[in-house]
Amino acid sequence: MSLLDTVTTAFVERAGRPPDGVWRAPGRVNLIGEHTDYNDGFVLPVAIDRSVFVVAARRDDDVLQSWSSRDRGGPVTHSLSELGPGVSSGWSAYVEGMAWALRELGVPVPGADLAVHADLPAGAGLSSSAALEAAVGLALIDLAGPGTGMAEGVQGSRAVGRVALARAAQRAENEVVGMPCGIMDQMAVLLGQAGHAVFLDTRTQATELVPFDPAAAGLTLLVIDTRVKHALVGSPYAERRRACERAAAALGVGALRDATLDDLTAALRSGDLDEVTFRRARHVVTENDRVLEVVDLLRQGKPTAIGPALAGSHDSLRDDYEVSCPELDVAVEAAVASGAVAARMTGGGFGGSALALTPIDAVEPVNAAVTEAFSRAGFGPPSVFAVQVAAGAERIA
Ligand code: GLA
Repeated sequence: MSLLDTVTTAFVERAGRPPDGVWRAPGRVNLIGEHTDYNDGFVLPVAIDRSVFVVAARRDDDVLQSWSSRDRGGPVTHSLSELGPGVSSGWSAYVEGMAWALRELGVPVPGADLAVHADLPAGAGLSSSAALEAAVGLALIDLAGPGTGMAEGVQGSRAVGRVALARAAQRAENEVVGMPCGIMDQMAVLLGQAGHAVFLDTRTQATELVPFDPAAAGLTLLVIDTRVKHALVGSPYAERRRACERAAAALGVGALRDATLDDLTAALRSGDLDEVTFRRARHVVTENDRVLEVVDLLRQGKPTAIGPALAGSHDSLRDDYEVSCPELDVAVEAAVASGAVAARMTGGGFGGSALALTPIDAVEPVNAAVTEAFSRAGFGPPSVFAVQVAAGAERIA
């Protein structure tokens, strides 16, 4: 049975009727630009060929009823009018938060039955949250029908409608899930394109699709999922974000995007920045420069040359920003030592995944070396898999 048949059959079993459609949204791997998106900075993610699927049908009442294949309980049921911050928890907060955020935007969200499936691991730093939000968002906009003002933009033009949807998804996550994330993940999963990385300026929210086709350069993009679950809600993520805001305030700039290394050094000397806040800010300032460097190399068609920038990013995240973990460090070291041309942690950190851009004939040695290094360090086995640079969220049936 195809994946589409499986998810459709599961929906029919639960809801007792056929669905109106099936929507898919991919996860993402961020090539570079980590913890810059809430500092008005630059990011460079790619959408990948692992997805969250939402199967849904419109209802005649105002009830939103949702199931998840990863949760044997359920369904989770709420009337649309009761949705909002403080109402939902767990996976359903992403679903219900998205419905709420669309209503806040004025989309006439209808009642719906909705089932969630995924071949994208959750908690692996690959944006399963944003994927769930995006797939639910597209589904609800389609079920709301034409003339909602958004459906045309979202499905048609890949610019305005999708950026508005990404903002709504970020709002759902900030206000309903309670995770103070930036907008990188939502933009990546909605605006990604096969064969391209999404170069996003988070200040203007302008995007440029930069060619990135590993296979054409004889490379494979490997994900090393450390299987250390990262839960960013209530994690030091929020504390890092506050440190950046403190640093920007001390420097008298709107966001760290506007600071230079000289500004930071002067503020450290004058005592306006303490040593830890200085290092947090230094990560952000240097990371923005590394994004621009990588974008430049990719524009020149030189993906094999991005290794030093990615290594610099990992070191900075480990030493200055302190969001790596021993498993991520071992993954990156072992991957580079066994032939990867570039590797670093990807996503928020504190667990989750690393990426390793690897020559095709080094995929097996890298996999073996990473697995062996984990075993030697006494860590549980990682999950190492290749991903394709894929299309953003879409309706598939
Ligand atoms: C998480 C957040 C993003 C971003 C990254 C770090 O994935 O959701 O907004 O801040 O961490 O780059």
